[in-house]
Amino acid sequence: MATIKKIGVFTSGGDAPGMNACIRAVVRTGIFSGAEMVGIRQGYQGMVENQFLPMDARSVCNIIQLGGTILKTARCAEFRTPEGRKKAFKNLQKNGIDGLVAIGGDGTFTGAELLSRTYDIPVICIPGTIDNDLYGSDFTLGYDTANNTVIEAIDKIRDTAASHDRVFFIEVMGRDSGCIALQAGIAGGAEAILLPETDEGIEHLLHKLEDGEKINKSSSIVIIAEGDKNGGAYNVSKIVKEKFPAYDIKVTILGHLQRGGSPTSYDRVLASRLGYAAVKALLAGETRKMVGIRGNKIKLTGLEEALNHKEFKLEADLLEMSGILTI
Ligand code: F6P
Repeated sequence: MATIKKIGVFTSGGDAPGMNACIRAVVRTGIFSGAEMVGIRQGYQGMVENQFLPMDARSVCNIIQLGGTILKTARCAEFRTPEGRKKAFKNLQKNGIDGLVAIGGDGTFTGAELLSRTYDIPVICIPGTIDNDLYGSDFTLGYDTANNTVIEAIDKIRDTAASHDRVFFIEVMGRDSGCIALQAGIAGGAEAILLPETDEGIEHLLHKLEDGEKINKSSSIVIIAEGDKNGGAYNVSKIVKEKFPAYDIKVTILGHLQRGGSPTSYDRVLASRLGYAAVKALLAGETRKMVGIRGNKIKLTGLEEALNHKEFKLEADLLEMSGILTI
């Protein structure tokens, strides 16, 4: 097994708070271990376009608290082709990079797995996405911060909803995952939460709103995961308005503000742990693995396994409780 001398690190796909703290951990662990470190800008795009940036311990000063990613990120169509991956590998060779750490979501993992298998270059992936939708890790980087951003928004909307006796439909991100919706919905005391995983349907929501009216609730917050099958917050609000024309209804799509902001303490520490563990694993000869967190312990999962499994991450007690605590 050849020793890895020069490690490339990059962020790819949607950005997530904590990515910078993770880059810092990867760069400093690598340097501490005697490796040369190189940042690749804009993920696979930079790999294809030869955007490589030597990094030292000082290159990652004062970034632990920053949202976004100093290396920038992109979704790269060219890398999805064999020719694009060949170009990327040639650039890695040209820059003497013999090991990679990739931070991102399942698209990032798919690319890393293919590149590593085709060209036999060692790679370790770190789950970085607000969606918390990856198999093999209880949490992904950025998820905790996004939850906190969402509950701050819910709290503010609740003030105005209560003042005007309104029903608010708040749509949150997560792609096909309802993790943010459930967690932030419970923390924000939402009257109802619509999730892609459970798909309870509109009838259930209508009953809940009706029950609320019977006990004199004058305002309500409904959280809708963007992946919910009922067509998003605007569509759901239209259906509810048709059934209850007297309701004063408003819709808020939280959108990309959920992706930004300074990472929480939890995300900074998780980012540091995963970055540190990724470099240690790479230097110990591991490849095509994801470093995740399971029961607060670092765990390696094969990339193929991580990509081929879906995990139901919504705890049964949370699901049950969410319907009870808002009666
Ligand atoms: O995967 C993170 C995420 O923010 C999802 O929650 C959302 O569906 C998607 O990315 C949005 O992607 P884009 O920033 O390309 O619009």
